Amino acid sequence: MKNIGILSTGHYLPSRVLTNADLEKIVDTTDEWIITRTGIKERRIADKDERCSHLAINAAIEALERGKIDAKDIDLIIVTTITPDSNFPSVACLVQKAIGATNAAAFDISAACSGFLYGLTTAKQFLAGGIYKKVLVIAAEKITDLVDWNDRGTCVLFGDGAGACILGEAEEGHGILSEHLHAQGEFGHLMAVITEMKDPLEQDNDTTKSPVINMQGKELFKVAVNSMAEAIEISMKKAGVSLDQIDCVVPHQANDRIITAVAKKLNIPKDKIFINIHKYGNMSAASIAVALYEAEKQGSIKKGSLVALVTFGAGLVSAANIVRW
Ligand code: COA
Repeated sequence: MKNIGILSTGHYLPSRVLTNADLEKIVDTTDEWIITRTGIKERRIADKDERCSHLAINAAIEALERGKIDAKDIDLIIVTTITPDSNFPSVACLVQKAIGATNAAAFDISAACSGFLYGLTTAKQFLAGGIYKKVLVIAAEKITDLVDWNDRGTCVLFGDGAGACILGEAEEGHGILSEHLHAQGEFGHLMAVITEMKDPLEQDNDTTKSPVINMQGKELFKVAVNSMAEAIEISMKKAGVSLDQIDCVVPHQANDRIITAVAKKLNIPKDKIFINIHKYGNMSAASIAVALYEAEKQGSIKKGSLVALVTFGAGLVSAANIVRW
């Protein structure tokens, strides 16, 4: 089996910023409540005419440029998203066309906030097995389209963005050392977007109603902490490494208090954990992809660093990877 690693990363964030002060004007909340209960100060919001594929394409272009990789050398594009432009075509096909990756296969994965790590692990299988040489994985979300802007319990949490990476053969001793994917469907009801069912013979079918996020935050919080802690432990065991060897933990950025609780449970010093939730909120699958990009850019991850990636998301789905950078 070949060593498979991340050759390059990219990201894209919409320029429009929505601050806690802006939210104070639309729901009964305060900057102080949002910061103390979540750690979020502001988030990015895509424009009305900016779709998921727009975010995905821009993140992909940066990953190609930074890696000096020709789009024609990409064999497969995987987009992980729960907010595609439309049911079909897939966002991956839209990206393929836009970047000119004419030799690539393309498909989307739906694994909510764990999508990026589900994508990395899927990509690794195609590469390690020798089927493909280069795979582009993009996590892109315009999740604010699913937000109920009247629900203060959820609307303060989310933001839009995209992160991308290109995977291929890594040097000896480097690359993705282990993976752990898990699902607990019994917790699916804790966070869902339910589409209304339609009867073709009923005259009052309202096609304008758009479904929104429904969440039981308190219950989700507890499951999130347990599943992320467990995912890190399992992936470390599979990689044969211990916590003191890990240089940087990059977690899904859903709530700063969830990250702190995981750190406490596993006894991880908080300075080893990369956090950018204050700037972007929860961007679903894109959160960890953008955090990974920034952690490398800001020097928290360097060549040779041992990195733990860990996520949880609606489903409930959790995942972790140990990577030697
Ligand atoms: N501003 C002010 N008050 C708010 C508020 C807001 N934006 N949102 C909720 N409140 C209020 C509630 O109404 C409640 O008031 P009450 O005590 O009078 O009933 C109080 O704050 C406490 O609410 P609670 O839901 O218990 O707060 P919490 O400490 O659990 O924090 C979340 C709420 C959503 C931030 C937290 O539960 C969370 O992050 N859960 C996980 C969510 C998540 O990760 N989702 C994404 C999964 S990928």
